Amino acid sequence: MAGGYRIDRIFQYHFIAFCIISKKKHEIMKRRKFLENSSKAIIASTLLPANVLAVNSINTAPQKTKVALVGTGSRGSATWGKELLDGYNQWVDMVGLCDINPKRLEYAKKYLGTNAKTYIAADFDRMIQETQPDFVIVTTTDSFHVDYIVRAMELGKNVISEKPIATETEQCQRIVDAEHTSGKKVTVGFNMRFMNGSNDIKEILDSGELGRILSVEFQEYLDQSHGASYFRRWHGKIKYSGSLLVHKASHHFDLVNWLIDADPVEVQAMGRVAFYGHNHSFRSRNCRTCPFTDKCNFYWDMTTDDRMMDLYGNCEEVDGYFRDGCVWDNEIDSYDTSSVHVNYDNGTLLTYSMNTNLPYEGQYICFTGEKGRLDVRLFARQPWDEEAPIEIRLSKDMNRSKVFSLQHSTGGHGGSDERVKDLIFKPDVKDELGRKAGSRAGIMSSLIGIAARQSIETGSKVKVGDLVHFPTTWKG
Ligand SMILES: NC(=O)c1ccc[n+]([C@@H]2O[C@H](COP(=O)([O-])OP(=O)(O)OC[C@H]3O[C@@H](n4cnc5c(N)ncnc54)[C@H](O)[C@@H]3O)[C@@H](O)[C@H]2O)c1
Repeated sequence: MAGGYRIDRIFQYHFIAFCIISKKKHEIMKRRKFLENSSKAIIASTLLPANVLAVNSINTAPQKTKVALVGTGSRGSATWGKELLDGYNQWVDMVGLCDINPKRLEYAKKYLGTNAKTYIAADFDRMIQETQPDFVIVTTTDSFHVDYIVRAMELGKNVISEKPIATETEQCQRIVDAEHTSGKKVTVGFNMRFMNGSNDIKEILDSGELGRILSVEFQEYLDQSHGASYFRRWHGKIKYSGSLLVHKASHHFDLVNWLIDADPVEVQAMGRVAFYGHNHSFRSRNCRTCPFTDKCNFYWDMTTDDRMMDLYGNCEEVDGYFRDGCVWDNEIDSYDTSSVHVNYDNGTLLTYSMNTNLPYEGQYICFTGEKGRLDVRLFARQPWDEEAPIEIRLSKDMNRSKVFSLQHSTGGHGGSDERVKDLIFKPDVKDELGRKAGSRAGIMSSLIGIAARQSIETGSKVKVGDLVHFPTTWKG
Protein backbone atom coordinates (compact mmCIF):
# COMPACT_ATOMS: atom_id res chain seq x y z
CA MET A 1 0.00 0.00 0.00
CA ALA A 2 1.33 3.42 -0.96
CA GLY A 3 1.92 5.99 1.77
CA GLY A 4 2.15 5.34 5.48
CA TYR A 5 0.31 3.21 7.99
CA ARG A 6 -2.74 1.13 7.12
CA ILE A 7 -6.10 2.18 8.49
CA ASP A 8 -6.82 -1.48 9.35
CA ARG A 9 -3.95 -1.44 11.78
CA ILE A 10 -5.37 1.60 13.56
CA PHE A 11 -8.71 -0.12 13.97
CA GLN A 12 -7.34 -3.52 14.88
CA TYR A 13 -4.80 -2.59 17.52
CA HIS A 14 -5.49 0.91 18.75
CA PHE A 15 -8.93 2.15 17.97
CA ILE A 16 -10.77 0.79 21.00
CA ALA A 17 -8.40 2.62 23.30
CA PHE A 18 -9.15 5.92 21.55
CA CYS A 19 -12.82 5.81 22.45
CA ILE A 20 -12.46 5.49 26.20
CA ILE A 21 -12.26 9.12 27.16
CA SER A 22 -12.05 8.42 30.90
CA LYS A 23 -8.60 6.88 30.38
CA LYS A 24 -7.38 9.81 28.34
CA LYS A 25 -3.71 9.85 29.31
CA HIS A 26 -3.32 6.19 28.54
CA GLU A 27 -5.11 6.56 25.20
CA ILE A 28 -3.11 9.52 24.04
CA MET A 29 0.04 7.64 24.80
CA LYS A 30 -1.21 4.71 22.73
CA ARG A 31 -2.22 7.00 19.89
CA ARG A 32 1.13 8.72 19.93
CA LYS A 33 2.94 5.42 20.12
CA PHE A 34 1.03 4.28 17.09
CA LEU A 35 1.71 7.45 15.14
CA GLU A 36 5.37 7.37 16.12
CA ASN A 37 5.56 3.85 14.77
CA SER A 38 3.98 4.82 11.48
CA SER A 39 6.28 4.96 8.52
CA LYS A 40 5.09 8.48 7.76
CA ALA A 41 6.25 9.81 11.08
CA ILE A 42 9.64 8.25 10.49
CA ILE A 43 9.84 9.73 7.01
CA ALA A 44 8.77 13.14 8.33
CA SER A 45 11.47 13.22 10.97
CA THR A 46 14.22 12.27 8.55
CA LEU A 47 13.13 14.87 6.02
CA LEU A 48 13.22 17.91 8.29
CA PRO A 49 13.71 20.92 6.05
CA ALA A 50 17.03 22.69 6.45
CA ASN A 51 15.35 25.97 7.38
CA VAL A 52 13.52 24.29 10.29
CA LEU A 53 16.82 23.10 11.70
CA ALA A 54 18.36 26.50 11.16
CA VAL A 55 15.50 28.37 12.84
CA ASN A 56 15.48 26.01 15.81
CA SER A 57 19.16 26.40 16.28
CA ILE A 58 18.64 30.01 17.46
CA ASN A 59 17.14 28.47 20.59
CA THR A 60 20.42 26.93 21.66
CA ALA A 61 22.05 30.32 22.26
CA PRO A 62 23.03 30.59 25.93
CA GLN A 63 21.75 34.14 26.26
CA LYS A 64 18.12 35.05 26.75
CA THR A 65 16.19 36.05 23.65
CA LYS A 66 15.39 39.76 23.87
CA VAL A 67 11.91 40.73 22.68
CA ALA A 68 10.19 44.09 22.23
CA LEU A 69 6.42 44.14 21.83
CA VAL A 70 4.20 46.59 19.94
CA GLY A 71 0.46 46.50 20.66
CA THR A 72 -0.13 46.06 24.39
CA GLY A 73 -3.84 45.20 24.20
CA SER A 74 -5.48 41.94 25.18
CA ARG A 75 -3.34 39.52 23.16
CA GLY A 76 -0.13 41.50 23.53
CA SER A 77 -0.34 41.95 27.29
CA ALA A 78 -1.48 38.36 28.00
CA THR A 79 -0.26 35.69 25.53
CA TRP A 80 2.86 37.50 24.34
CA GLY A 81 3.28 39.53 27.54
CA LYS A 82 2.51 38.17 30.98
CA GLU A 83 2.24 34.52 29.93
CA LEU A 84 5.51 34.81 28.03
CA LEU A 85 7.33 36.31 31.01
CA ASP A 86 5.76 33.90 33.52
CA GLY A 87 6.35 30.73 31.50
CA TYR A 88 9.52 31.49 29.53
CA ASN A 89 11.45 33.73 31.90
CA GLN A 90 14.58 31.61 31.73
CA TRP A 91 14.79 32.03 27.95
CA VAL A 92 13.13 35.37 27.24
CA ASP A 93 13.72 38.96 28.29
CA MET A 94 11.13 41.68 27.57
CA VAL A 95 13.12 44.81 26.78
CA GLY A 96 10.53 47.20 25.35
CA LEU A 97 6.79 47.83 25.17
CA CYS A 98 5.11 50.09 22.64
CA ASP A 99 1.52 51.19 21.94
CA ILE A 100 -0.34 54.09 20.43
CA ASN A 101 -2.31 54.52 23.66
CA PRO A 102 -0.03 55.65 26.54
CA LYS A 103 -2.57 54.74 29.23
CA ARG A 104 -2.91 51.17 27.95
CA LEU A 105 0.86 51.01 27.69
CA GLU A 106 1.31 51.94 31.35
CA TYR A 107 -1.39 49.48 32.42
CA ALA A 108 0.32 46.72 30.43
CA LYS A 109 3.69 47.44 32.04
CA LYS A 110 2.11 47.09 35.51
CA TYR A 111 0.16 43.99 34.50
CA LEU A 112 3.33 42.33 33.20
CA GLY A 113 5.36 43.39 36.24
CA THR A 114 8.28 44.18 33.97
CA ASN A 115 11.04 46.76 33.97
CA ALA A 116 10.90 46.95 30.18
CA LYS A 117 11.03 50.51 28.89
CA THR A 118 7.81 51.91 27.42
CA TYR A 119 7.52 53.86 24.17
CA ILE A 120 4.58 55.49 22.43
CA ALA A 121 4.03 54.40 18.83
CA ALA A 122 5.78 57.44 17.33
CA ASP A 123 8.96 56.32 19.16
CA PHE A 124 8.98 52.78 17.75
CA ASP A 125 12.34 53.35 15.97
CA ARG A 126 13.85 54.67 19.19
CA MET A 127 12.65 51.56 21.04
CA ILE A 128 14.42 49.34 18.53
CA GLN A 129 17.61 51.39 18.59
CA GLU A 130 17.78 51.62 22.39
CA THR A 131 16.68 48.08 23.29
CA GLN A 132 18.16 46.10 20.34
CA PRO A 133 15.70 43.18 20.56
CA ASP A 134 16.26 39.83 18.82
CA PHE A 135 12.56 39.76 17.90
CA VAL A 136 9.87 42.40 17.57
CA ILE A 137 6.48 40.95 18.52
CA VAL A 138 3.61 42.63 16.65
CA THR A 139 0.17 42.45 18.31
CA THR A 140 -1.48 45.68 17.20
CA THR A 141 -4.83 46.06 15.46
CA ASP A 142 -4.57 43.97 12.26
CA SER A 143 -4.36 46.77 9.69
CA PHE A 144 -1.26 48.24 11.38
CA HIS A 145 0.79 45.01 11.55
CA VAL A 146 2.45 45.80 8.24
CA ASP A 147 3.98 49.10 9.37
CA TYR A 148 5.79 47.50 12.30
CA ILE A 149 6.71 44.29 10.48
CA VAL A 150 8.33 46.21 7.63
CA ARG A 151 10.01 48.84 9.81
CA ALA A 152 11.40 46.22 12.21
CA MET A 153 12.97 44.32 9.30
CA GLU A 154 14.34 47.57 7.83
CA LEU A 155 15.99 48.14 11.21
CA GLY A 156 17.53 44.66 11.01
CA LYS A 157 15.19 42.75 13.33
CA ASN A 158 13.31 39.48 12.99
CA VAL A 159 9.58 39.61 13.67
CA ILE A 160 6.92 37.50 15.33
CA SER A 161 3.51 38.71 14.12
CA GLU A 162 0.05 37.78 15.18
CA LYS A 163 -2.27 36.69 12.39
CA PRO A 164 -3.35 38.07 10.02
CA ILE A 165 0.04 39.18 8.75
CA ALA A 166 -1.70 41.75 6.51
CA THR A 167 -5.18 42.94 5.56
CA GLU A 168 -4.60 44.32 2.03
CA THR A 169 -2.70 43.09 -1.04
CA GLU A 170 -0.42 46.13 -1.03
CA GLN A 171 0.55 45.30 2.57
CA CYS A 172 1.41 41.73 1.53
CA GLN A 173 3.66 43.10 -1.20
CA ARG A 174 5.43 45.44 1.24
CA ILE A 175 6.17 42.52 3.56
CA VAL A 176 7.46 40.30 0.75
CA ASP A 177 9.72 43.10 -0.51
CA ALA A 178 11.00 44.03 2.95
CA GLU A 179 11.78 40.44 3.84
CA HIS A 180 13.45 39.88 0.49
CA THR A 181 15.71 42.95 0.74
CA SER A 182 16.44 42.84 4.50
CA GLY A 183 17.17 39.11 4.78
CA LYS A 184 15.18 39.15 8.04
CA LYS A 185 12.32 36.76 8.84
CA VAL A 186 8.72 36.94 9.98
CA THR A 187 7.15 34.16 12.04
CA VAL A 188 3.34 34.15 12.21
CA GLY A 189 1.49 33.00 15.33
CA PHE A 190 -0.85 30.50 13.70
CA ASN A 191 -1.81 28.70 16.90
CA MET A 192 -4.53 26.60 15.22
CA ARG A 193 -1.78 24.46 13.72
CA PHE A 194 -0.92 23.55 17.32
CA MET A 195 -4.39 22.57 18.59
CA ASN A 196 -4.87 19.01 19.82
CA GLY A 197 -5.85 16.89 16.84
CA SER A 198 -4.16 19.09 14.19
CA ASN A 199 -1.07 16.88 14.29
CA ASP A 200 -3.20 13.74 13.90
CA ILE A 201 -5.05 15.18 10.92
CA LYS A 202 -1.78 16.24 9.32
CA GLU A 203 -0.21 12.82 9.84
CA ILE A 204 -3.25 10.99 8.45
CA LEU A 205 -3.40 13.24 5.36
CA ASP A 206 0.37 13.09 4.81
CA SER A 207 0.33 9.29 5.11
CA GLY A 208 -1.55 9.04 1.81
CA GLU A 209 -4.13 6.78 3.45
CA LEU A 210 -6.98 8.75 1.86
CA GLY A 211 -5.24 9.09 -1.47
CA ARG A 212 -5.41 12.41 -3.30
CA ILE A 213 -7.52 14.95 -1.39
CA LEU A 214 -10.29 16.02 -3.75
CA SER A 215 -12.13 18.48 -1.56
CA VAL A 216 -12.26 20.09 1.86
CA GLU A 217 -15.35 21.45 3.59
CA PHE A 218 -14.79 23.85 6.48
CA GLN A 219 -17.68 25.28 8.47
CA GLU A 220 -16.90 27.86 11.15
CA TYR A 221 -19.56 28.21 13.84
CA LEU A 222 -19.46 31.29 16.08
CA ASP A 223 -22.16 31.61 18.73
CA GLN A 224 -23.98 34.79 19.71
CA SER A 225 -21.47 35.48 22.47
CA HIS A 226 -18.22 34.93 20.56
CA GLY A 227 -19.65 36.02 17.21
CA ALA A 228 -21.15 39.22 18.60
CA SER A 229 -17.87 40.10 20.34
CA TYR A 230 -16.29 40.79 16.94
CA PHE A 231 -18.97 43.34 16.09
CA ARG A 232 -18.50 45.21 19.37
CA ARG A 233 -14.83 45.82 18.47
CA TRP A 234 -12.64 47.15 15.65
CA HIS A 235 -12.98 43.71 14.03
CA GLY A 236 -16.40 44.71 12.64
CA LYS A 237 -14.82 47.37 10.39
CA ILE A 238 -13.00 46.22 7.26
CA LYS A 239 -10.54 49.12 7.43
CA TYR A 240 -9.13 47.68 10.69
CA SER A 241 -9.59 43.91 10.32
CA GLY A 242 -9.80 43.36 6.58
CA SER A 243 -13.17 41.67 7.45
CA LEU A 244 -13.59 38.46 9.43
CA LEU A 245 -12.58 36.62 6.24
CA VAL A 246 -9.09 38.00 6.89
CA HIS A 247 -9.03 38.56 10.64
CA LYS A 248 -10.65 35.29 11.67
CA ALA A 249 -10.65 33.03 8.63
CA SER A 250 -6.92 33.53 7.99
CA HIS A 251 -6.49 30.98 10.81
CA HIS A 252 -8.70 28.52 8.95
CA PHE A 253 -7.29 29.15 5.49
CA ASP A 254 -3.79 28.70 6.87
CA LEU A 255 -4.79 25.46 8.54
CA VAL A 256 -6.15 24.07 5.26
CA ASN A 257 -3.16 25.34 3.23
CA TRP A 258 -0.80 23.67 5.68
CA LEU A 259 -2.78 20.43 6.04
CA ILE A 260 -3.13 19.80 2.32
CA ASP A 261 0.25 21.39 1.54
CA ALA A 262 -1.05 23.42 -1.39
CA ASP A 263 -1.34 27.02 -2.59
CA PRO A 264 -4.60 28.78 -3.44
CA VAL A 265 -5.08 29.65 -7.13
CA GLU A 266 -8.62 31.05 -7.48
CA VAL A 267 -11.19 32.37 -5.02
CA GLN A 268 -14.89 33.05 -5.43
CA ALA A 269 -17.09 34.24 -2.56
CA MET A 270 -20.36 35.69 -1.36
CA GLY A 271 -20.92 37.46 1.92
CA ARG A 272 -23.02 40.08 3.60
CA VAL A 273 -23.80 41.83 6.85
CA ALA A 274 -26.96 39.82 7.31
CA PHE A 275 -27.58 39.95 11.06
CA TYR A 276 -25.55 42.61 12.94
CA GLY A 277 -24.89 46.25 11.91
CA HIS A 278 -27.72 47.91 10.01
CA ASN A 279 -30.08 44.95 10.53
CA HIS A 280 -31.91 46.39 13.52
CA SER A 281 -34.44 49.03 14.56
CA PHE A 282 -32.37 50.77 17.29
CA ARG A 283 -28.72 51.40 18.01
CA SER A 284 -26.39 53.49 20.13
CA ARG A 285 -22.68 54.26 20.31
CA ASN A 286 -21.81 51.74 23.02
CA CYS A 287 -23.48 49.69 25.76
CA ARG A 288 -22.52 51.91 28.69
CA THR A 289 -24.25 54.94 27.20
CA CYS A 290 -27.12 53.07 25.53
CA PRO A 291 -30.76 54.04 26.22
CA PHE A 292 -31.99 50.61 25.02
CA THR A 293 -30.28 48.31 27.53
CA ASP A 294 -33.59 46.82 28.74
CA LYS A 295 -34.63 45.61 25.33
CA CYS A 296 -31.32 44.74 23.64
CA ASN A 297 -30.36 41.06 23.73
CA PHE A 298 -26.73 42.08 23.22
CA TYR A 299 -26.42 44.51 26.14
CA TRP A 300 -23.09 43.88 27.88
CA ASP A 301 -21.98 45.59 31.09
CA MET A 302 -18.21 45.67 30.84
CA THR A 303 -17.89 47.64 34.10
CA THR A 304 -18.21 44.32 35.97
CA ASP A 305 -14.94 43.11 34.42
CA ASP A 306 -11.86 44.75 35.98
CA ARG A 307 -9.50 43.67 33.21
CA MET A 308 -11.82 45.09 30.54
CA MET A 309 -11.98 48.39 32.40
CA ASP A 310 -8.21 48.53 33.01
CA LEU A 311 -7.35 47.63 29.43
CA TYR A 312 -10.00 49.63 27.58
CA GLY A 313 -12.58 51.51 29.68
CA ASN A 314 -9.98 53.57 31.56
CA CYS A 315 -8.00 54.27 28.38
CA GLU A 316 -10.78 55.31 26.02
CA GLU A 317 -10.47 59.06 26.56
CA VAL A 318 -7.08 58.85 24.75
CA ASP A 319 -8.16 57.13 21.53
CA GLY A 320 -11.98 57.09 21.63
CA TYR A 321 -12.04 53.30 21.28
CA PHE A 322 -15.10 51.81 22.99
CA ARG A 323 -14.62 48.13 23.70
CA ASP A 324 -18.39 47.71 24.24
CA GLY A 325 -19.32 49.19 20.85
CA CYS A 326 -22.86 48.68 19.57
CA VAL A 327 -23.34 45.50 17.53
CA TRP A 328 -26.00 47.40 15.54
CA ASP A 329 -23.57 50.14 14.44
CA ASN A 330 -24.48 51.20 10.90
CA GLU A 331 -20.79 51.38 10.02
CA ILE A 332 -20.23 47.65 10.55
CA ASP A 333 -19.19 46.36 7.14
CA SER A 334 -17.38 43.11 8.02
CA TYR A 335 -19.58 40.29 6.70
CA ASP A 336 -21.22 38.24 9.45
CA THR A 337 -22.36 35.56 7.00
CA SER A 338 -20.07 34.32 4.25
CA SER A 339 -19.28 31.50 1.91
CA VAL A 340 -15.99 31.05 0.04
CA HIS A 341 -14.75 28.66 -2.65
CA VAL A 342 -11.03 28.11 -3.24
CA ASN A 343 -9.36 26.17 -6.02
CA TYR A 344 -5.87 24.93 -5.07
CA ASP A 345 -2.84 24.26 -7.25
CA ASN A 346 -3.06 20.53 -6.45
CA GLY A 347 -6.67 20.39 -7.66
CA THR A 348 -8.30 20.33 -4.20
CA LEU A 349 -11.49 22.38 -3.87
CA LEU A 350 -12.27 24.13 -0.56
CA THR A 351 -15.80 25.10 0.43
CA TYR A 352 -15.67 27.40 3.46
CA SER A 353 -18.46 29.09 5.39
CA MET A 354 -18.65 31.30 8.47
CA ASN A 355 -21.72 32.12 10.56
CA THR A 356 -21.52 34.43 13.56
CA ASN A 357 -24.86 34.31 15.38
CA LEU A 358 -25.38 30.61 16.06
CA PRO A 359 -26.76 28.87 19.16
CA TYR A 360 -23.47 26.96 19.50
CA GLU A 361 -19.75 27.20 18.77
CA GLY A 362 -17.48 24.87 16.90
CA GLN A 363 -16.15 23.74 13.56
CA TYR A 364 -16.84 20.97 11.10
CA ILE A 365 -13.96 20.13 8.77
CA CYS A 366 -14.11 17.28 6.24
CA PHE A 367 -11.46 15.98 3.89
CA THR A 368 -12.70 13.86 1.00
CA GLY A 369 -10.02 11.73 -0.59
CA GLU A 370 -9.95 9.21 -3.42
CA LYS A 371 -9.99 6.38 -0.87
CA GLY A 372 -12.06 7.73 2.00
CA ARG A 373 -13.00 10.63 4.17
CA LEU A 374 -11.82 12.30 7.35
CA ASP A 375 -14.45 14.16 9.40
CA VAL A 376 -13.28 16.47 12.18
CA ARG A 377 -15.83 17.99 14.53
CA LEU A 378 -15.01 20.53 17.21
CA PHE A 379 -17.80 21.06 19.74
CA ALA A 380 -18.17 23.97 22.17
CA ARG A 381 -20.96 25.57 24.18
CA GLN A 382 -23.65 23.53 22.44
CA PRO A 383 -27.02 22.84 24.12
CA TRP A 384 -26.50 19.07 24.06
CA ASP A 385 -23.98 16.71 25.64
CA GLU A 386 -20.89 15.49 23.87
CA GLU A 387 -18.31 12.98 25.07
CA ALA A 388 -15.38 15.18 24.15
CA PRO A 389 -14.80 18.48 22.37
CA ILE A 390 -12.80 17.02 19.47
CA GLU A 391 -13.98 14.08 17.38
CA ILE A 392 -12.01 12.67 14.45
CA ARG A 393 -13.66 10.08 12.22
CA LEU A 394 -11.91 8.15 9.50
CA SER A 395 -14.10 6.33 6.97
CA LYS A 396 -12.72 4.04 4.28
CA ASP A 397 -15.77 2.50 2.67
CA MET A 398 -19.43 1.75 3.36
CA ASN A 399 -18.56 -0.69 6.15
CA ARG A 400 -15.58 0.82 7.90
CA SER A 401 -15.86 4.08 9.80
CA LYS A 402 -14.12 4.60 13.10
CA VAL A 403 -13.86 7.54 15.44
CA PHE A 404 -11.56 8.75 18.16
CA SER A 405 -12.11 11.60 20.57
CA LEU A 406 -9.75 14.06 22.18
CA GLN A 407 -9.83 16.63 24.95
CA HIS A 408 -8.29 20.08 24.67
CA SER A 409 -5.17 20.71 26.71
CA THR A 410 -5.19 23.35 29.42
CA GLY A 411 -3.81 26.79 28.57
CA GLY A 412 -4.69 29.46 26.03
CA HIS A 413 -6.64 28.25 22.98
CA GLY A 414 -6.56 24.61 24.09
CA GLY A 415 -2.83 24.72 24.90
CA SER A 416 -1.90 25.90 21.42
CA ASP A 417 -0.69 29.34 22.55
CA GLU A 418 1.96 27.68 24.71
CA ARG A 419 3.06 25.29 21.95
CA VAL A 420 3.68 28.19 19.55
CA LYS A 421 5.90 29.83 22.16
CA ASP A 422 7.62 26.53 23.01
CA LEU A 423 8.67 26.16 19.40
CA ILE A 424 9.96 29.70 19.13
CA PHE A 425 11.66 30.16 22.48
CA LYS A 426 12.44 26.81 24.14
CA PRO A 427 15.70 25.17 23.18
CA ASP A 428 15.62 21.79 21.42
CA VAL A 429 11.91 21.78 20.53
CA LYS A 430 11.65 20.00 17.19
CA ASP A 431 9.23 20.92 14.41
CA GLU A 432 8.70 17.57 12.69
CA LEU A 433 5.40 18.58 11.09
CA GLY A 434 6.55 22.00 9.89
CA ARG A 435 4.09 23.83 12.10
CA LYS A 436 6.15 26.98 12.41
CA ALA A 437 4.69 29.45 9.90
CA GLY A 438 6.65 32.09 8.02
CA SER A 439 5.57 35.13 6.03
CA ARG A 440 4.67 33.06 2.96
CA ALA A 441 2.09 31.08 4.94
CA GLY A 442 0.86 34.31 6.51
CA ILE A 443 0.47 35.98 3.14
CA MET A 444 -1.21 33.00 1.45
CA SER A 445 -3.85 32.83 4.18
CA SER A 446 -4.45 36.60 4.13
CA LEU A 447 -4.66 36.58 0.34
CA ILE A 448 -7.52 34.07 0.36
CA GLY A 449 -9.50 36.36 2.68
CA ILE A 450 -8.59 39.47 0.67
CA ALA A 451 -9.45 37.73 -2.61
CA ALA A 452 -12.77 36.59 -1.09
CA ARG A 453 -13.51 40.18 -0.13
CA GLN A 454 -12.69 41.34 -3.67
CA SER A 455 -14.90 38.62 -5.09
CA ILE A 456 -17.79 39.66 -2.83
CA GLU A 457 -17.33 43.29 -3.87
CA THR A 458 -17.01 42.64 -7.63
CA GLY A 459 -18.98 39.42 -8.10
CA SER A 460 -16.01 37.94 -9.99
CA LYS A 461 -13.60 35.09 -9.45
CA VAL A 462 -10.19 36.36 -8.23
CA LYS A 463 -6.84 34.86 -9.25
CA VAL A 464 -4.52 34.83 -6.23
CA GLY A 465 -1.40 34.96 -8.40
CA ASP A 466 -2.46 38.37 -9.74
CA LEU A 467 -2.49 39.95 -6.29
CA VAL A 468 1.17 39.85 -5.21
CA HIS A 469 4.47 39.48 -7.02
CA PHE A 470 6.77 36.96 -5.34
CA PRO A 471 10.45 37.39 -6.29
CA THR A 472 11.84 34.07 -7.50
CA THR A 473 14.66 34.17 -4.94
CA TRP A 474 12.30 34.81 -2.00
CA LYS A 475 11.40 31.83 0.18
CA GLY A 476 9.21 33.38 2.91
N1 LIG B 1 -3.87 33.93 17.39
C1 LIG B 1 -4.93 34.17 18.13
O1 LIG B 1 -5.60 33.25 18.59
C2 LIG B 1 -5.32 35.59 18.43
C3 LIG B 1 -6.25 35.87 19.44
C4 LIG B 1 -6.57 37.20 19.69
C5 LIG B 1 -6.00 38.21 18.96
N2 LIG B 1 -5.10 37.91 17.99
C6 LIG B 1 -4.47 38.98 17.20
O2 LIG B 1 -3.72 39.80 18.10
C7 LIG B 1 -3.76 41.17 17.67
C8 LIG B 1 -4.25 42.03 18.80
O3 LIG B 1 -5.58 41.69 19.12
P1 LIG B 1 -6.21 42.13 20.51
O4 LIG B 1 -7.40 41.28 20.74
O5 LIG B 1 -5.15 42.17 21.55
O6 LIG B 1 -6.70 43.61 20.19
P2 LIG B 1 -6.67 44.86 21.16
O7 LIG B 1 -7.56 45.87 20.56
O8 LIG B 1 -6.92 44.43 22.56
O9 LIG B 1 -5.15 45.37 21.10
C9 LIG B 1 -4.60 46.06 20.02
C10 LIG B 1 -3.57 47.03 20.57
O10 LIG B 1 -2.92 47.68 19.48
C11 LIG B 1 -2.81 49.06 19.79
N3 LIG B 1 -2.70 49.81 18.55
C12 LIG B 1 -3.66 50.11 17.65
N4 LIG B 1 -3.16 50.78 16.61
C13 LIG B 1 -1.83 50.92 16.86
C14 LIG B 1 -0.76 51.51 16.15
N5 LIG B 1 -0.96 52.11 14.97
N6 LIG B 1 0.46 51.47 16.69
C15 LIG B 1 0.68 50.86 17.87
N7 LIG B 1 -0.29 50.28 18.59
C16 LIG B 1 -1.54 50.30 18.08
C17 LIG B 1 -4.07 49.38 20.57
O11 LIG B 1 -3.94 50.56 21.32
C18 LIG B 1 -4.19 48.13 21.44
O12 LIG B 1 -3.50 48.26 22.62
C19 LIG B 1 -4.64 41.19 16.44
O13 LIG B 1 -3.86 41.16 15.29
C20 LIG B 1 -5.44 39.93 16.53
O14 LIG B 1 -5.81 39.45 15.25
C21 LIG B 1 -4.74 36.62 17.72
